[in-house]
Amino acid sequence: SIKPIICPSLLSSDFSFLARDANYMLDCGADWLHMDVMDGHFVPNLTIGAPVIKSLRKHTKGHLDCHLMVTNPELMIEDFKSAGADSITFHIEVTEERGITNQVIKKIKDAGMQVAISVKPKTPIESIFPYIDQLDFVLIMTVEPGFGGQSFMKDMMPKVKLLRQKYPNLNIQVDGGLDPNTIDEAAQAGANVIVAGSALFKPNQDPKDTIKLFKDVINK
Ligand code: DX5
Ligand code: ZN
Repeated sequence: SIKPIICPSLLSSDFSFLARDANYMLDCGADWLHMDVMDGHFVPNLTIGAPVIKSLRKHTKGHLDCHLMVTNPELMIEDFKSAGADSITFHIEVTEERGITNQVIKKIKDAGMQVAISVKPKTPIESIFPYIDQLDFVLIMTVEPGFGGQSFMKDMMPKVKLLRQKYPNLNIQVDGGLDPNTIDEAAQAGANVIVAGSALFKPNQDPKDTIKLFKDVINK
């Protein structure tokens, strides 16, 4: 079902006030909390891991949507489960070359979490077709993973459109550069799960208004 699901990226929060910022976003109407996990290897940036998820879990009831931008997601699944993660998204680029995509999906599901696969901008969407029936959602990156605050790549919209045509009820997440100027294009292509970091943590702008706008555009 394609209801809007708005996922603030806590990468743009003040990490020293992570729980406060997370719960504030939920109070403003956010649906999930998007947690960007980077290992300094798959992407040239290092952020947070399971210990931080575990700390945050004690302070929020929100759905912890963990986006693993890491080379070895298979080694982190148990730690994320015990930390309290609700969903795990991994990148197909790292599992397909080792032939472990099915195993990683199974490991995440067996642990009792939702599972999603992500594609980087240069990765064709067809690469995930064999797995879609097993997934809770799909993440189409609309920037090169690694950093917040980059510009939305609208040339990723054909991927979203193709996926929406083939799978009318699939939850399709987009991540990178989503804001009031780019939401129309993403929603029109068929995206309904919206990650936004800098747009929601922008000073002097009420995230409540931006979240409502995102939902209205998806619903229309
Ligand atoms: C980028 C991350 C994103 C990022 C989005 O690698 O996956 O979740 O935080 O930030 P904005 O919305 O600022 O592009
Ligand atoms: Zn992300």
